[in-house]
Amino acid sequence: MALQPGSSLKEAFPVFAHHRELVFLDNAASCQKPVVVLEAMDKLYRTSYANVHRGVYQISEAATAQFEGARQDVARFINAASAEEVIFTRNATAALNVAAASLALGLKAGDEVLLTHLEHHANLVPWQEAAKRHQLVLKFIPVTEEGRLDLSSIDELINSRTKVLAITATSNVTGTVTELDKLIPKAKAVGATVVVDAAQAAQHLPLDVQALGCDLLAFSGHKVFGPSGIGVLWGRMELLSSLPPFEFGGNMIQEVSYESASFAPPPARFEAGTPPIAEAVGLGAAVKFIQQIGWGAICDYEEGLTRYALEKLVAVPGLRLIGPSTPEARAPVFSFVLEGVHPHDVASILDGVGVAVRAGHHCAMPLHKRFGLPATTRASFTIYNTEEDVNALVSGLAKARQMLAL
Ligand code: ALA
Repeated sequence: MALQPGSSLKEAFPVFAHHRELVFLDNAASCQKPVVVLEAMDKLYRTSYANVHRGVYQISEAATAQFEGARQDVARFINAASAEEVIFTRNATAALNVAAASLALGLKAGDEVLLTHLEHHANLVPWQEAAKRHQLVLKFIPVTEEGRLDLSSIDELINSRTKVLAITATSNVTGTVTELDKLIPKAKAVGATVVVDAAQAAQHLPLDVQALGCDLLAFSGHKVFGPSGIGVLWGRMELLSSLPPFEFGGNMIQEVSYESASFAPPPARFEAGTPPIAEAVGLGAAVKFIQQIGWGAICDYEEGLTRYALEKLVAVPGLRLIGPSTPEARAPVFSFVLEGVHPHDVASILDGVGVAVRAGHHCAMPLHKRFGLPATTRASFTIYNTEEDVNALVSGLAKARQMLAL
């Protein structure tokens, strides 16, 4: 059966057979897993599991072939020039930590790192730490009231002191899709290195690292329908070859004596220790699953769903949406507050009617402060969500207002 976004896709996800009434709207935190991912991991463990890159015996060679095959699947998913540019990490956070710590080693006091006010803590705190260690200056592209990037001062913000632009591709709070097509060329024109946090974008948008022209890009397996415990750091080979390793130990070396060591070329240089083997195989199956559905179908479907959700949400009395109220350049991630009700209470009432959402600061405290809020409730949709799921959310919100007598 052809895979299509929408309600029929729920059949590919065993969790929805187990919880028939579940309206799962916490996909920005983590997505559910299709059966192809579960089967790929199960098959590896049942038939050909062993450590990789170490054994000369057949079952280890089979595991290595599947692990390296997954690297090729990921390379195709993001159009990397070669599979060697794909580094497997623990998650997107780990990838962004490697990016910040390694790039900072090549920077000097006074160099500027440009971030945005949309950043998740994972693309902010590593740079704060790097700035303390290397006396770097952090600058920020602000956001408008609508939650889009305010580019009015961009020509001052990107200048000859800018050495790094580290930017989210899609906000996990506002759903804003940032203007990478404008910002990356500007940053490259002043010689800056560009790091893209694609943790949220990777489930919603096709990523073509060569067309983007960035230098490093990070995303997580669990947000693209793959397993947790694995992430990706992609880097341009020329840059990766010049970066020092971040962790040290087995698998990442070339030659070791008691006194010193030399290091393997990328990607092994950045993959110390036993890697997430079954997780890589699961991730390979996940990205092929996405490609089987097709980006054209995914983007069209999500745009329609975003339009529908926006229409319904802005009509809810007392609801303040944090983020763009139009569907253009926007992912189906909706953070909001309901006047007079604590975001956690909203989430609990929604849970009572089978709608799973997240409440809190979503690892973006400064962005919440920017909007004068300690927390929001967030409903985040993906390819298996439907207009009925939007309706369930909206009627749950009506119930919350009724229960709290607003
Ligand atoms: N970064 C994930 C989120 O936004 C966990 O919920």
